[in-house]
Amino acid sequence: MADLADKLNRPLLDAAGLAEGHRLLDLASGAGEPALSAARRVGPGGLVVGSDLVPGMMAGAVRRARGVEGPAPAFTAADMTALPFADAAFDGVTCRFGIMFVPAVEAALREVRRVLRPGGRAAFMVWGPRAGNGLFAEIGDAVAEHLGEDGSLDPLFRFAEPGLLAGVMRRAGFAETSETDLTPVRKAPAGQPFWRAALDMSFGHRLADLTAGRRERLEADIARRFAAQAVDGIVPVPSHARIAVGR
Ligand SMILES: C[S@@+](CC[C@H](N)C(=O)[O-])C[C@H]1O[C@@H](n2cnc3c(N)ncnc32)[C@H](O)[C@@H]1O
Repeated sequence: MADLADKLNRPLLDAAGLAEGHRLLDLASGAGEPALSAARRVGPGGLVVGSDLVPGMMAGAVRRARGVEGPAPAFTAADMTALPFADAAFDGVTCRFGIMFVPAVEAALREVRRVLRPGGRAAFMVWGPRAGNGLFAEIGDAVAEHLGEDGSLDPLFRFAEPGLLAGVMRRAGFAETSETDLTPVRKAPAGQPFWRAALDMSFGHRLADLTAGRRERLEADIARRFAAQAVDGIVPVPSHARIAVGR
């Protein structure tokens, strides 16, 4: 995801209205984005708190923060449906590819409102439709062909329908909600297994019991699918993302 990071983070931080000196809470930070990019933007006078439900994810984010020049974000474990922060503690809240995994999404959005100062903005990045996301679409199709379809990817595309997340935000009390779509194209190196991390992340639970031979055949099929799309050694992989923002 590294080559896509800036194309995704910049518009997300813009949507949250993030500026120098702000206090930002990033939810579901995983391995640290966009918290790490946000820390550079708020500078030494601001504060970025990265958070995730899974403490182990924070360890990776903390490790990455050590290698970053300038002010580092603070990281802490936090469930976005019960945030360990005071009311109105933040100027902005971001969340990149996390809100779709929360069953009680309205409860999470109410918590986000509670920790935002009046007038502060929250910006959520989610995936658009599966067909517009080349990485997941090809991997998902290959897995379905080899192992059968089981809906493992469905949560990723929970807010793929335009207007759905903005509508939930309005129900949770957000004002001035809007959505913007982005369709950056990742330039992946042909002949390299750039898709393997996404395969493991999305289908690890199904691959664990596969024989080495079956896994090899599945991976060879995925590699073939992407190789067929290569132009001059580069596989263009489109990503359809959406930012839902509210005040
Ligand atoms: C796909 S990752 C996104 C990570 C990062 N923001 C990024 O874009 O690379 C989704 C993250 O959501 C986190 N998550 C799931 N449910 C959560 C919850 N209720 N509260 C906070 N984080 C949650 C997971 O632990 C996981 O790290």
